[in-house]
Amino acid sequence: MDSMTLTIIKPDSVASGKAGRILAHLEGAGFSIRAMRMTRLSREAAAEFYAEHRGKGFFEPLIEFMTSGPVIVAALSREDAVAELRRVIGATDPAEAELSTVRAIFAESKTRNAIHGSDSDNSARRELDFFFSRVELVQNCG
Ligand code: RTP
Ligand code: MG
Repeated sequence: MDSMTLTIIKPDSVASGKAGRILAHLEGAGFSIRAMRMTRLSREAAAEFYAEHRGKGFFEPLIEFMTSGPVIVAALSREDAVAELRRVIGATDPAEAELSTVRAIFAESKTRNAIHGSDSDNSARRELDFFFSRVELVQNCG
């Protein structure tokens, strides 16, 4: 059965005109787009979204980066969506990501790494709720 996960096409990808190719890559990997929006994260929103990383050395650069320009947030569905999206995205550091993963192809660095994917079913639920209303998600999946 299909499940859902959340992706963010990060500011580096949108600014450099790679958003469309990344979304095409995800659709090619079997994901369906169920909801999608372009937005610019406030500092507060980015800090809440990445709250698990508060206090870490990369937290400030991460928040700076994530608020530096518009992002595209999307709800994606397919079988085993969370694990499959993480596999398709590749390792956090593009230098360590397997060839043909989104980060190996499109990311610039460990911080400016093109895309986010929820890391567990619990995270996916929280992150989908963060950006999309239940009504939006349910009506688009019917
Ligand atoms: P994401 O949450 O964005 O999908 O990335 P991830 O699970 O692969 O990595 P995570 O550990 O959750 O880190 C979140 C984001 O913080 C930035 N980061 N920079 N320079 C560094 O050492 C470093 N480590 C993490 C990246 O943008 C990473 O995606
Ligand atoms: Mg993460």
